[in-house]
Amino acid sequence: MQNALITGGAGFIGSNVALALQEKYPAARLVVVDDFRSGDFRNLRGFRGDIVAADISRLDWSVQFRDRSFDAVFHLASITDTTVHDQFQQVHDNVEGFRRLLEFLASSQTPVVYASSAATYGMGAGRMREDQPLAPANVYAFTKVQLENLAADYSRHCPAWRLVGLRYFNVYGPREAHKRAAASMIYQLYRQMKSGQRPRVFRSGEQKRDFVYVKDIVSLTLQALAAPASGVFNGGSGVAFSFNEVIAALNRALGTQLEPDYFDNPYSHFYQSHTEADLDRARSVLRFEPQYPPARGIADYVAILESAPQT
Ligand SMILES: NC(=O)c1ccc[n+]([C@@H]2O[C@H](COP(=O)([O-])OP(=O)(O)OC[C@H]3O[C@@H](n4cnc5c(N)ncnc54)[C@H](O)[C@@H]3O)[C@@H](O)[C@H]2O)c1
Repeated sequence: MQNALITGGAGFIGSNVALALQEKYPAARLVVVDDFRSGDFRNLRGFRGDIVAADISRLDWSVQFRDRSFDAVFHLASITDTTVHDQFQQVHDNVEGFRRLLEFLASSQTPVVYASSAATYGMGAGRMREDQPLAPANVYAFTKVQLENLAADYSRHCPAWRLVGLRYFNVYGPREAHKRAAASMIYQLYRQMKSGQRPRVFRSGEQKRDFVYVKDIVSLTLQALAAPASGVFNGGSGVAFSFNEVIAALNRALGTQLEPDYFDNPYSHFYQSHTEADLDRARSVLRFEPQYPPARGIADYVAILESAPQT
């Protein structure tokens, strides 16, 4: 790894990937492209690479990088603010950004690992497998399906070019604080409990999510670069963990005994009761083995937050 590009590198997952690459390959030249619409410079403190502040869907890639070539691209940039309902903006910025990136890379066929999402599965409940039908329930999820379609189209025409999509589940961990309301439920509940409040969750707290620690997501994202061929893989912990279990783990990590404060779910007819990543494909093809089951990940995260509250 000599030259790597990270789009969305000022964001939560992108900054963790950029800093992990820097640590693993200290001699590599790293470039982040981000327009800071939801990212934050604080996530990149300590980053020694270059940063290009630009909107990927409007950037003229071949002019910007006319003298550069890359041997790996990690594409994390995306609108992640779920309050953005402008369908043109979502589809334009997310899909055109990816299209321009692929057009720029087509001649070199640089391998790309790109972020898709478990949101592509829609509202179904239970264990989710990569080959089940997709049912995006919002425009954000719809754009992720389009990214996968675009990648599949390119890989049909260029079978040797590796384009690897990762359907991340509910990621939590250091460097997500800037996401505020869009940060993980684990972070939201930690903040409430840290300030002495009872953690507020929908009644009866038994809804389950596949919460996956960002350290595992970084490992998966780096490992995906060695995928033998293009494809799409789930990125989760493989464990469905309830909100009540999250609260119990936070109580243990914080040394508190705060009871959940349940309230009625106004979206109960439109709310997922259970998400869980089937990891068979990621395990067998990418050799992915999560190291942080939720209780362990939460304990690690709380220890980091307690030692550096601005993380
Ligand atoms: N965090 C999760 O639980 C989760 C789950 C599923 C998928 N994902 C995907 O993972 C990726 C990273 O998400 P995150 O949680 O780090 O979110 P984030 O909002 O922290 O990071 C996204 C980054 O992309 C940048 N960006 C957005 N649009 C851009 C554009 N057009 N041009 C340049 N930069 C742009 C933002 O400024 C931000 O820094 C995204 O693609 C997201 O859809 C995240």
